[in-house]
Amino acid sequence: MKNQDRINELIEKRGMARLGGGEKRIDSQHKKGKFTARERIEILLDEDSFEEYDMFVMHRTKSFGMDKQQFLSDGVVTGHGTIDGRIVYVFAQDFTVFGGSLSETFANKICKIMDQAMKVGAPVIGLNDSGGARIQEGVRSLAGYAEIFQRNIMASGVIPQISAIYGPCAGGAVYSPALTDFIIMRDKASYMFLTGPKVVKTVTGEEISTEDLGGANVHSTKSGVSHFLVDNEEEGMLLIRKLLSYLPSNNLEEPPVIENNDPIDRLENSLNEIIPENPNKPYDVTDVIHSIADENEFFEIQRNYAKNIVIGFARFNGASVGIVANQPNYLAGVLDINASIKAARFVRFCDAFNISIVTLVDVPGFLPGSSQELGGIIIHGAKLLFAYGEATVPKVTITLRKSYGGAHDVMSCKQLRGDINYAWPTAEIAVMGAKGAVEVLEGRNISAIEDETERSKYIKEKESEYEEKFANPYQAAKYGFIDDIIEPRNSRFRIIRALQTLSSKKDYNPPKKHSNIPL
Ligand code: HXC
Repeated sequence: MKNQDRINELIEKRGMARLGGGEKRIDSQHKKGKFTARERIEILLDEDSFEEYDMFVMHRTKSFGMDKQQFLSDGVVTGHGTIDGRIVYVFAQDFTVFGGSLSETFANKICKIMDQAMKVGAPVIGLNDSGGARIQEGVRSLAGYAEIFQRNIMASGVIPQISAIYGPCAGGAVYSPALTDFIIMRDKASYMFLTGPKVVKTVTGEEISTEDLGGANVHSTKSGVSHFLVDNEEEGMLLIRKLLSYLPSNNLEEPPVIENNDPIDRLENSLNEIIPENPNKPYDVTDVIHSIADENEFFEIQRNYAKNIVIGFARFNGASVGIVANQPNYLAGVLDINASIKAARFVRFCDAFNISIVTLVDVPGFLPGSSQELGGIIIHGAKLLFAYGEATVPKVTITLRKSYGGAHDVMSCKQLRGDINYAWPTAEIAVMGAKGAVEVLEGRNISAIEDETERSKYIKEKESEYEEKFANPYQAAKYGFIDDIIEPRNSRFRIIRALQTLSSKKDYNPPKKHSNIPL
């Protein structure tokens, strides 16, 4: 064979590989409003940066007539490229080849890029669209999944791992995304569940649609499995690019610092007025976050899940910061099971990847009631407490308004190694609110008053006495639990200066195999 013929053969084979399962199946993918695996990678990465591996891999199964059905690349496209000039590894499941189902060789391809990503110290992005285990391969497919799971586990806390779900993701296949740091789901076009509606009906009799059981919407609002809900695949890719802009490529790097044109000493006068006079009136804590962050930008995570706590990334003087903030606008910002888990996982992510944490506190306490207690709020609330106490990254806390009881301790207080703890003059840091305190302390005196008007007058007096004494930041400041009481409009500058001061901070945990966080 002449050299040119060999080159032509290569070009032809590459062309065949790029066709995946063939034109007909590509058309059908497009008709469903979905991109193919290679199109997805092209949209995601910097132009012309993708280098594909293992294009010529084919499965080795002979049974069920599989020896006659061979497709180059075997249903998954893998390789590396760049996002904003930084290396990332990527795999995209190709639904046009056996429904993107996972074979042994398919798994090997993913494992290869994961191993290399770990050596290089670069993020892994998985674009999922698959019918699950390749049925013709039986247990070899299950073993392939487990090989990936093991790598997901080893990579956790070392390199960022991001999963986008652009089609089916069912059965045990859901566990690879679940082991990664962030999941993005496309609305009305993706689903994740362990057992589908048919099996659910057979086993439990429950009738439920695919969308209600595992659609993007339920996972973004009810289960908390998904971190981001997107309307289309392009939006998902842009979101991944943006997310990565806040993250270092691995745990040994610092997060990127981008040029900042927002003055570090910008005063935000509106903050002096943002806390309502009435302590029971809500306000939107995201207004506070937007107004203090660089360019007023806040990248919120799990926006529609456990809305009583807000988490996400912002920048201060160009540096990435993780924000955790109670949201008075939703359930008065109370801490419950879901909010605790949501914030705890985020705090641990930030700590693993050297991202400083700014905590904005306005929390009336933990949500009381049997459903929370029986649901294990003790153990789940402890997760957040544990995550803050274990974190060694710089931690700056500002108490905006309420900080009561156990919730005060949990929300990055001084004794949980909070590095710099500020309070606004509107802060109320105490064991409990005035109403509860008066009920406990004055219960006997109150019931001794027979006249109702007299009784409520007495309660009001005692409540304002308590408020005056305890519903302020000065008690905590007196003991050094608060480092300074600051004017709200100065918050941006004070946070930036605190973070700059802490940038060389070193803190350590004692040597151990790993902690035993209350799971
Ligand atoms: C082999 C598969 C496949 C699979 C789909 N295909 N799933 N081939 N193994 N798991 C093939 C189909 O035969 C078809 O081939 C092509 O992919 C497209 O599938 P369709 O059914 O035509 O597509 P659609 O109607 O869109 O339905 C998609 C689907 C459905 C909902 C995903 O295919 C489906 O239910 N598949 C089976 C899902 C499943 O039960 N998987 C195993 C789960 S258990 P042709 O040649 O016609 O194009 C599991 C365990 C993992 O995954 C454990 C990990 C620990």
